[in-house]
Order: sequence, then structure tokens, then C-alpha cells
Amino acid sequence: MRKLAAGNWKMNGTVASLAEVQALIAAQPAPACEMLLCPPATLISAIATAAHGSALMVGAQGCHAKPSGAHTGDLSAPMLADAGASHVILGHSERRADHGETDAQVRAKAEAAQAAGLVAIVCVGETEAQRDAGETLAVIGAQIDGSVPTTSTAANLVIAYEPVWAIGTGRTPTLSQIAEVHAFLRARLADHIGAQAAQVRLLYGGSVKPSNAAEIFALPDVDGALVGGASLKAADFAPIVAALSAA
Ligand code: PGA
Repeated sequence: MRKLAAGNWKMNGTVASLAEVQALIAAQPAPACEMLLCPPATLISAIATAAHGSALMVGAQGCHAKPSGAHTGDLSAPMLADAGASHVILGHSERRADHGETDAQVRAKAEAAQAAGLVAIVCVGETEAQRDAGETLAVIGAQIDGSVPTTSTAANLVIAYEPVWAIGTGRTPTLSQIAEVHAFLRARLADHIGAQAAQVRLLYGGSVKPSNAAEIFALPDVDGALVGGASLKAADFAPIVAALSAA
């Protein structure tokens, strides 16, 4: 499978950020892995235009479960696809925490995304209290069971393991902790989608940076990364793309 380096800009970026997009494309014109940026929705169309003909793909950070209708302020999956998105991040812990998104809502959004031709990047991960209580695998297993559409395939589903306590903190799990969760994810996915699970990209996310990327990407069942802060600058994200290309 081709690995995936995905950047999550969160609520960062303006038209001026297109300079970083151009710099990224210039630094990584033909990576061996897939390369994706998920900017705020206001920039999807502009980045899709800037990236046209390059290796860079553009994604969104969320969508509504319905294709259209009276939902002021929301964006549907077909709209995001129309703007040039190929992927959408769903169930990020910031959405689960700040907007109360439940597993059932995440699954409905993932089904809508897949129906619109988008790849759903479904995020799972434990809080620090849950890890300390020894609940990590139980929490993540329940999130997979509740959030992943059973019709998913390796072509329309990506899973991102993001420990909540590692996001934006500079802290990361040990390599053996990451490997344990990714092996568990692979097996749990197989319960739902069978043999397709072997080919689903499993991303690690949470404080990935150029200095720790290579050792994380060398782990079995780590098929890429979901990168927040270090995806905002081409000078940080390009070396992460390079490390994944070399893994
Ligand atoms: P971070 O964020 O790389 O800044 O820790 C990752 C994420 O939330 O996707």
C-alpha cells in the first residue's frame, strides 16, 4: 500500500498560507508516499487550484451527515468534494470534545463522506486518564466499533490513532505503545471489514515532528501520520513526508 502523510491545519491558515503550499510542492514534487493537506474549508478550493497537477491532495476537517438542507453553518461531503477535497478528517478528538461528536455521528458522517467519493480519515484515541487506568485498548476498540462504517474498504477508509494527551503537547507514546495500538487496530478492523483491514492505512498522530518521524514510521502497522502543528510550515512537513517516503 502507499503510505499517507496527512497535515491537519485545524483553525489555522489564510490566503497568505498558499506560499507554504507552494513551498511544500516545490520541496516534495514526487514523494513515494501520498501527501495531503487538510486546511480550513475556506482554503480548500484555493489549495486545490494551487495543487492541480502536483502530488499534493487536499482534504477537509469535518462534514455534515446529510448531503444538503437546512443546516446553517454546516458543510456537506458533496460540497467538499465539489470544492476539490479528496479526504475528510472525522471524529478528531477536538471535535469529539468541543462539539460533543459521538461515535454514531462520526459513523454517519463517514458514510456520507464515502458516499460522496471522499476518503474518511476516522480518528480514535484515549485520554491520559484512560491510559493510566489501563483502558486504552477498550476505549479505542469501542471507538472503532462505533465509528467505522461496515461498508468501508481500504480505498475509502483511513484510521488515525491519536492519543489525546499527545496532541499538541510535544509528548508521544513509547514506540512499543504505538505498535501495540496499531496491531490492535488492524485486528479490530478485520472484525468489521474482513480482509480489507490488511490494506487500510493506519496513521499515527500526536506531536509528530521531523525529529521523531523516522522512528515512528519504522514501526509495523504504521502506514503514515496525521500531523497538526508540524504541517503548517513546509520546512517542517516536507522532511516528515521525506521520512515517510523513505520508510
Ligand atoms: P499535533 O496534532 O501534530 O499538533 O500534535 C495532531 C492532530 O491533532 O492531528
